[in-house]
Amino acid sequence: MKDKLQKLQQVALSEIEKTQGLEELEQIKIKYLGRKGELNTTKKSIKDLSNEEKPVIGGLVNKISNTIESKIEEKHNIFYKESIAKKLEKETIDITLPGVTSSRGKLHPLTSTINEITGIFAKMGFSLVESKNSPEVETEYYNFDALNFPPDHPAKDMQDTFYTKIAPFVLLRSQTSNSQIREMEQKLPPLRVISPGRVYRAESVSSRKNNLFHQVEGFMVDKDVTFSDLKGVLNEFTREFFAQQRPTRFRTSYFPFTEPSVEIDVQCIICCGKGCRTCSGSGWLEILGAGMIDPNVLKNVNIDPEQYSGFAFGMGVERLAMLKFAINDIRLFFNNDLRFLKQF
Ligand code: DAH
Repeated sequence: MKDKLQKLQQVALSEIEKTQGLEELEQIKIKYLGRKGELNTTKKSIKDLSNEEKPVIGGLVNKISNTIESKIEEKHNIFYKESIAKKLEKETIDITLPGVTSSRGKLHPLTSTINEITGIFAKMGFSLVESKNSPEVETEYYNFDALNFPPDHPAKDMQDTFYTKIAPFVLLRSQTSNSQIREMEQKLPPLRVISPGRVYRAESVSSRKNNLFHQVEGFMVDKDVTFSDLKGVLNEFTREFFAQQRPTRFRTSYFPFTEPSVEIDVQCIICCGKGCRTCSGSGWLEILGAGMIDPNVLKNVNIDPEQYSGFAFGMGVERLAMLKFAINDIRLFFNNDLRFLKQF
């Protein structure tokens, strides 16, 4: 019996030594140590032995099963470490591989131009219009009549202004000047307001004109506001916006809601006054309209023109952005072509 057991141990240990992997090892474990394994069968037959033999053989069986078990464990550890090492090798991260980057969004060039314009006026004490006082769907009264447009003014024509089907007098505003009236109706002077927003006109679309564009309107009303204040404020604006001291020119013009009215030109930023295609050879670029608020407009909003005076101005955002960034087609702002937008 003893010899048979010694032999069994020898065979088992050499079989364990020869195993190639975890699965094979598991099979051997079952074969020797399992419930129906060889050592268990021997254990069961111990009861038939003589009383002297029982403890000797019992002890030997236990010893052998411990030896086999620890040998299996030893082998198991080796295989386990090997498999982890293999797995790690397969899963290593290649840190030289370029990462996948997601590009950051940016402000649309029109948004940043509006922010810049309103920022410059904010520094001069202008505050942003209340949004309820700057609606895009407007009545004829606020867009035209209160601004001293005569009833037969050509701008009111269906060919220039988009009328809605809501009612015959409801339209898409053609200028941000409507916000002047709404602000002045509700607030008492002194007032210094800046009002950016979308406007709509029934134009045929071209590289210079679009049905929808943006304006920034501004106005100031107080006691003793003079034309010098208008000049000072708007000269300061052009100096900051074009980041350079450029000659400006105030040309007389006409708007129904201002008297006197002017258009302001800045020296051409492309040719510096020599004359080029951008300025049609004149050396000047028109950038905005302005003037002293007409007394009739002040009367329409119950401000006494004997006591108060004011100036107003309005500028096209696309036009200013096109001049500043040398963009030659207004439609680029609205096509959402990333190749264009990414440049800002
Ligand atoms: N609303 C005018 C336009 O769309 C621009 C303008 C001119 C606004 C003179 C003003 C102003 O406030 O005083 O052509």
